[in-house]
Amino acid sequence: MKLATVILAAGLGTRMKSQTAKVLHRVAGRPMIEFPVGLARDLRSERVACVLGHQADAVRAAVEARFGEGSVAVAIQAEQRGTGHAVAQAEKALRGFDGPVLILYGDVPLLTEATLRKLLDAGRRRTLALVTTLLDEPTGYGRIVRGAGNRLERIVEEKDATDAERSICEINAGIYCVQSKFLFSALKKLRTDNAQGELYLTDVAARAAQSKEGGEVGTVEVEAEEVMGVNDRVDLARADAAMRRRVTLTLMRAGVTIRAPETCCIDAGVTVGADSELGPLVQLRGNTRVGAGARIDAGCVITDATIGDGAHLKPYTVVAESEVGAEAELGPFAHLRPGSQLGRKVKIGNFVETKKARLGEGAKASHLTYLGDAEIGAHANIGCGTITCNYDGYVKSRTVIGEGAFIGSDTQLVAPVTVGAGAVVGAGTTVVEDVPPGALALSRSKQIAVPGYADKKRAEREARAATKGSTSAGKRSRRKP
Ligand code: UD1
Ligand code: CA
Repeated sequence: MKLATVILAAGLGTRMKSQTAKVLHRVAGRPMIEFPVGLARDLRSERVACVLGHQADAVRAAVEARFGEGSVAVAIQAEQRGTGHAVAQAEKALRGFDGPVLILYGDVPLLTEATLRKLLDAGRRRTLALVTTLLDEPTGYGRIVRGAGNRLERIVEEKDATDAERSICEINAGIYCVQSKFLFSALKKLRTDNAQGELYLTDVAARAAQSKEGGEVGTVEVEAEEVMGVNDRVDLARADAAMRRRVTLTLMRAGVTIRAPETCCIDAGVTVGADSELGPLVQLRGNTRVGAGARIDAGCVITDATIGDGAHLKPYTVVAESEVGAEAELGPFAHLRPGSQLGRKVKIGNFVETKKARLGEGAKASHLTYLGDAEIGAHANIGCGTITCNYDGYVKSRTVIGEGAFIGSDTQLVAPVTVGAGAVVGAGTTVVEDVPPGALALSRSKQIAVPGYADKKRAEREARAATKGSTSAGKRSRRKP
């Protein structure tokens, strides 16, 4: 079906009290403007025009970062002279288009595609259709004034309303479907003879209802939550919670077990495969993809990462911009920094940090280790306390460890350095030169034992304490020999 969409987002959003444009504040991890643009695209709008004013460049950049350059046409409304004036700015962007125009707001993130499909249905046979909702507390909204046969006659804004009109609980959500020809001709006839001196888009609805060419105005009533606008940080938190609840419900219905879902923060757009299980307080952010049958335990924070099927992330593992292979095992308390790529069945244990590190299938680093700028072959074993010394204060250098190599505990690998396949590095070694495949590298100094030395020292100390004649000193010396 032919369709164009206009998204109004020129307002400053004064009540946000922010340096950032309102529509760039995030709901479920996404700048709010992404939601209406996403809907317009899901409905296959052949044109999408965003009416921008405050921080137009930043808003455009955010939209293009998500949907691609040129994905929307931008119309600038330099001065905010009302919703009617705002839509009029999109006329040029829609020139040559003849058909239904959907009008959405940039600050109404919870609107669903299902509602818009109903609106388009109502709008297809009419000049104009709009979304309404019933509010116990309608203050501030435009009220729907109905006349004979319960037909919509006009919309009256709070500031222009009589007491009787103010008691109406059916309000205008501000979302419309209007035939383009009627829309742009009606916009030209708008006047500012109202309490706010603005050009009201709502007067286009009254014109449709009253004029012969207009005919009956269609309405679609929805739950209030869906059309809630975000005007301040309290609204933002409310919208965020509602969107996150939607995300967890959708995942659970698709076969994901979520323990204490109300404690999890999962961004819109994150995917999780069936039979995966998420513990309490899990955060899955950005463009994270979790495979099927994975287990993400309590407190894990995963950002822009891919987690393979059947992987197990134990509590409090933090992963950013990395890939975790199928059946890998991480944590508890593991830290994968950007550019970590773990193959199948890799094991990364507690207090292990990786950065720009590639680990082949089955490689293990089970405890207290730093692997940065490293390439680690399949089935290599990295002992407890191993450190890649990748930074000399000036440049970063790489460490390469071959397949099946065994790195003993407490080893320092001073990069650039290569340990060959199957080589063994003895515990406590500082590796400064390449180790050939299959070799043993060892840099310990020879161990010595001085017979009786410890006993002699202890006896001397005890003798000194006795000459002072203090019994408490004796006790102390026994506790701390
Ligand atoms: C408007 C409706 C009101 C409805 C309410 C629902 C009018 C006259 N009134 O109220 O009936 O109940 O929405 O939320 O239309 N905007 C611009 N440029 C402007 C003015 C607004 O881009 O010059 C954008 C805002 O950024 C916002 C949206 O339009 O995204 C709505 O603006 P807002 O001022 O909140 O709406 P009201 O006019 O108060
Ligand atoms: Ca508003």
